[in-house]
Parts: sequence; C-alpha cells; structure tokens
Amino acid sequence: MSKAKEKTLIILKPDAVQRGLLGDIISRFEKKGLKIVGLKMAHLDDVILTEHYIHHKDKPFFDDLKKFMSQSPVVLACLEGVEAIKVVRAMCGPTSGREAPAGTIRGDFSISVSSNIIHSSDSEETAEKEIKRFFKEEELFSYDRCDFSVIYSKDEL
Ligand code: RTP
Ligand code: MG
Repeated sequence: MSKAKEKTLIILKPDAVQRGLLGDIISRFEKKGLKIVGLKMAHLDDVILTEHYIHHKDKPFFDDLKKFMSQSPVVLACLEGVEAIKVVRAMCGPTSGREAPAGTIRGDFSISVSSNIIHSSDSEETAEKEIKRFFKEEELFSYDRCDFSVIYSKDEL
C-alpha cells in the first residue's frame, strides 16, 4: 500500500456543527494536504455511540458523553495521507481545549474538556475499526488530488 494511503476517521462533534465551524475545520485538513476520501452527516444513536466509546464505559463521563454526541447531527470524514493518523491527532491537540496549544483545532476553538469539537482515531487498529463502523465501502472514494505531486516529494508517495 502506498504510504499516502493511510486513512483515519474524524468526527466533527455536535458543538462544531452547532457553532458553524465545519468549514473552518475541514479547510485545515484540506490545506494541510490530507485527502478527504469520505464525508457525510449523521445523527448518531445510543447503540453506535455505546460501541464507539465502549472503552470508556466505566468512566464517570460515559453517559454525558453519549448525550452530548447525540445532541445534533455530526459530520464524519475519512482522511487519507502519509501518517494521517498521527498528523490528524496532532492537528486536533490534547483532549482538553484548555490545555490544547494554540494552533491546534481544540486549542483554537474549545475551552472545554468534553465539548472539544473533534474526535480522531488514535492508532492504526482503531482507525480501521472506526472507518468500518461509520462508512460503508461504497461511501469511500479513491481519486487523485492534482496537487499531491507538489504537496509530497516523490519518495513520500
Ligand atoms: P476523542 O476520542 O474524542 O478523539 O478524544 P481523546 O482521545 O482526546 O479523549 P478520550 O480520553 O478518548 O475521551 C473521549 C471523549 O470523551 C470526552 N471526555 N470528557 N468530562 C471528562 O472528564 C471527559 N474526559 C473525556 C471528550 O469529549 C473526549 O474527547
Ligand atoms: Mg479517544
């Protein structure tokens, strides 16, 4: 597999939708050089949120987190690029919007630990599972971005 084909999943959370931040956030990923290979809006229900956050089931914030995530539709995207998982996590910043450095998405748009704008996959294993959880095969696209030969050097592709 080409190095530029690594995929990760992001969820623009209800606070990003309600605050009209979708364009600003998606634009950051496009400008960085990540390719959007899947994009849709969905209203997540308790079943899928329980599955998605099952590793947090014993945390005190589990129920509130699910409530928050189902307050309004979210936007889901699958992004592709060299080391996409690590790059996107770094662009999002640490969990707390108060701790997240300026220049990161959470650092620039959030002042909360729970209403922190965006989710991103944290490992290859998680990314694979999460992409399958939220996207059908036919909802993911393979295409060339005409600027990739400028964005990357030859040996990176
Ligand atoms: P995410 O999974 O959303 O990408 O965020 P993360 O890895 O940085 O944070 P994680 O520890 O996996 O927590 C998942 C989400 O739960 C909410 N949270 N609330 N009230 C709290 O103490 C608390 N801690 C976490 C956040 O929305 C966090 O992104
Ligand atoms: Mg997490």
